[in-house]
Amino acid sequence: LRHFANPRAGTPSQDVLTPAGFEAARDTITSWPGYAPTPLRELAGLAAALGIGRLRYKDESGRFGLASFKALGGAYAVARLAAARDPGRLTVATATDGNHGRAVAWGAERHGSHAVIYVHEKVSEGRCAAIRRFGAEIVRVPGSYDDSVRRCAADAARNGWTVVSDTAWEGYTEIPRDVMHGYGVIADEIADDVGDALPTHLFVQAGVGALAAALEARFAQLWGSRAPRLVVVEPESADACFRSATAGRPMPAAGDLATVMAGLSCGEISPLAWEILRTADDFVALDDSWAVEAMRILADGRHGTEPFAAGETGVAGLAALMAAASDPAMQRALGLGPDASVLVIGSEGATDPEIYERLVGRSADEVGRSSDPAKA
Ligand SMILES: Cc1ncc(COP(=O)(O)O)c(C=O)c1O
Repeated sequence: LRHFANPRAGTPSQDVLTPAGFEAARDTITSWPGYAPTPLRELAGLAAALGIGRLRYKDESGRFGLASFKALGGAYAVARLAAARDPGRLTVATATDGNHGRAVAWGAERHGSHAVIYVHEKVSEGRCAAIRRFGAEIVRVPGSYDDSVRRCAADAARNGWTVVSDTAWEGYTEIPRDVMHGYGVIADEIADDVGDALPTHLFVQAGVGALAAALEARFAQLWGSRAPRLVVVEPESADACFRSATAGRPMPAAGDLATVMAGLSCGEISPLAWEILRTADDFVALDDSWAVEAMRILADGRHGTEPFAAGETGVAGLAALMAAASDPAMQRALGLGPDASVLVIGSEGATDPEIYERLVGRSADEVGRSSDPAKA
C-alpha cells in the first residue's frame, strides 16, 4: 500500500455540491418504485481480526436491482433531463466501464428515452449484456476509458444527444453534479443508520472520484467537524486522485490503468470531484491481490461474518483497510487501532458473474445460498 497524508486536508468546499441539491436528489430517488435503503453490515469478527474497534460495510449490491450504487447517479441525472423536456425525443449517451452505463440505460428505459453507451476495449461482454438488457445501444471504442469518454462526447455533439457523464470537464458540470447529488443518498442512509455511533474513518474507492467527493461533501454537511477521516483508495495502476493530491492540482494516473478493479480503471480525476477531494485526509494506492483476498474473505464468511458476494471494485475500500492493518507503520499512519470505527462502502455486488466466479472459485449465487441454511 502506498500512502499520502494530505497536507491540505480540511473542510471540503460547500459550493460544488449543496445541501439543497442533495435534498432534492434524495426526495426524488426515495420516491421511485422499488426504493429501499441498502443494508449497513456489521463485520464484528473481521474488525477484531484487523485490530480495530468496529467495521461497518454499506452494501450497495441490492440497489434498485442494478447491483451497484451507480443507479443513484446516472438514473437520477436522466430523470432530471426527462422531466425538463420530451423524454420520447431524448437520446442520452455516456462512456462507462460498466456500472454507470447500466444506470443510465435503466434510467432511459424507465422514461421511454434512448441510450447509447460507449465502452472501452477492456469492458467485459457480461457487463455489455447487462446494459443491452435495458434496450441501450453499445458502441465499443479502442483504447482506455478516457478514450471512450472523448469519443462519446464527439458523437453526441454531432448527433444532438445529451451526454450523461459521471465525470466533468470544462464547460460541462451540471449533469455530473446531478450524478454526484444522487450519490449523496448513500450518506443520508448511513447517517440514519448509525445515529450517534459515528465512524472515525471512511475508506472509499475512487475512479473519477465522484463517489468519494459526494460522500466527503455530504458527511461534512451532516456531521460537521465530526465527519470521518477520509481515506481515498485507488488501484496502483490508476492513481489519478493520489497523484493529483500529491501535486496539489489535477494530474493523470502514472500507470497503465490495468486492474481487476474495473470500475476504478480511470486515468483522470473529475474536476468537480477534485474541488472537493483536494481536502481529503489520506490517499492510498492498492495492489489488486488485496481486492481478490477481500472478495474471498466475504464469500467464505471468514471471521464469523455471514457469507455474501461483493464485486472486485466493490471491496476496494475494505481491501485497502486489510492492507493497512497488515502493516504496523501504516496502521499508525492511518490511526487504525482499537479506537477506530471504520466505514467502508461496498459499492457493488457481483456485477459480472463470470469474473466473480473466476476470482472466487464459486458463483455469486452459491455464495448467497450458503448464507441461508434453508436454501443450501
Ligand atoms: C462499483 C464501483 N465502485 C466505485 C466506483 C468509483 O466511482 P467514481 O468513478 O465516482 O470514483 C465505480 C465507478 O465506476 C464503480 O463502478
